[in-house]
Amino acid sequence: MLIKIEAIVREEAFEDVKTALNEIEVRGLTVYQVMGCGIQKGYNEVVRGVKVDLQMQPKIKFEIVVSSPEWEKKTIDAISKAAYTGEIGDGKIFSYEIRSAYRIRTKETGYDAIQPTNHME
Ligand SMILES: Nc1ncnc2c1ncn2[C@@H]1O[C@H](COP(=O)(O)OP(=O)(O)OP(=O)(O)O)[C@@H](O)[C@H]1O
Ligand SMILES: [Mg+2]
Repeated sequence: MLIKIEAIVREEAFEDVKTALNEIEVRGLTVYQVMGCGIQKGYNEVVRGVKVDLQMQPKIKFEIVVSSPEWEKKTIDAISKAAYTGEIGDGKIFSYEIRSAYRIRTKETGYDAIQPTNHME
């Protein structure tokens, strides 16, 4: 089973999340600088009676594909611990099953495509 985890976290959490993923030996990941907002619409305080448009905040998005529900849990635990402050805006983590993976160099598919090889990049 291939599972993709998408985590949107604070910019300040970037180093800690990266370190946490390295510690559990996650091998492949993609990181994006994104803009987004959650249920506070990007504001840290809601001004009563004032209707505000969505305001986007800069965030960091990690995408990681793993090969089992055990790795999914391990990865989500590591990210959520590393990104936690307890304040509004800590972020969100989504996961879902993906249909396929393909390593272009070796033509491996599925599980094999995301396993480490002895090739050093
Ligand atoms: N429903 C959603 N769909 C897609 N992306 C989302 C969703 N909710 C949050 N995000 C992304 O996650 C980022 C962080 O969201 P945020 O932590 O503010 O969520 P929240 O639900 O408002 O929780 P909190 O109350 O802790 O702020 C957002 O900037 C946005 O990029
Ligand atoms: Mg929010």
